[in-house]
Amino acid sequence: MQITNYRLKAGISKPIRIAVVADLHNAPTDYLFSNIENNHPDMIVIAGDLVYGRELDRDKDNFIFEPEKPMLLRFPYADDFIHRIPSIAPTFFTYGNHEWLLMPADIDRIKKAGVKILHNTWMRWNEIYIGGLSSPDVTNYWVFQDEWRKAHPSDSRGNLRRSYFYWKTHEVRKNVDTSWLTEFESAIGYKILICHHPEYWSIKEPKLENHPIDLVIAGHAHGGQIRVGKRGLYASGQGWFPKYTSGIHKGDYGNMIVSRGLSNTLKIPRIFNPCEMVYVDLITS
Ligand SMILES: [Fe+2]
Repeated sequence: MQITNYRLKAGISKPIRIAVVADLHNAPTDYLFSNIENNHPDMIVIAGDLVYGRELDRDKDNFIFEPEKPMLLRFPYADDFIHRIPSIAPTFFTYGNHEWLLMPADIDRIKKAGVKILHNTWMRWNEIYIGGLSSPDVTNYWVFQDEWRKAHPSDSRGNLRRSYFYWKTHEVRKNVDTSWLTEFESAIGYKILICHHPEYWSIKEPKLENHPIDLVIAGHAHGGQIRVGKRGLYASGQGWFPKYTSGIHKGDYGNMIVSRGLSNTLKIPRIFNPCEMVYVDLITS
């Protein structure tokens, strides 16, 4: 694992250190937990993909919609992580595309663990504002899932998986929910937006590079899996030779930092592309 540090001027009276946890995908976390603890962050940002949807392929017969049963029980490392990490620092979590499988019971479980969920909303925290733009795979799929269950009342076994893949393949309602962004952007102060998908910076609407947001924190691209020089080979949502897989990117107003993530979900290895833990120091001036 590589550690990457960024320092950004934020015009605040006291420095803030942010630990960025992206694309954990239920990987073991003991090494990570001690790394975060030793770096003494003031806040922790989980930038999506805590769990791993395809893991459930191995368990098709049990893939049932059970709102009262937490899916996190199938992801022991992720579950352990969300229960331990808030003891280090206040933790904020915005959904990545794999969080589509979370149940209402998971939301309760995460909140009870002390993690603040930012699902298309924002809040003030000390001197800064922090918002979370959820993946459309969560925002829109959850609406679609309700409709699917009403339309298929007898489909109790397997309907969760079937409805998700119907939704994925029919490409219905894939836009992010920006209805709350204008209000967030008009807040006076340093603004951080957690947005799992870096392609929303300039490739897809709402093109966050043009928005008055100081810092966007993203993941998802896994560094492009194989890195050639400073570029990745492929990233979901951006295709071949993707533009945003790592590093810091300057926009009209603020910056986007893209974490290369903390796991590998593919059978092929990550080449010249170690997993990455990102720390951002917001400094006073
Ligand atoms: Fe992702």
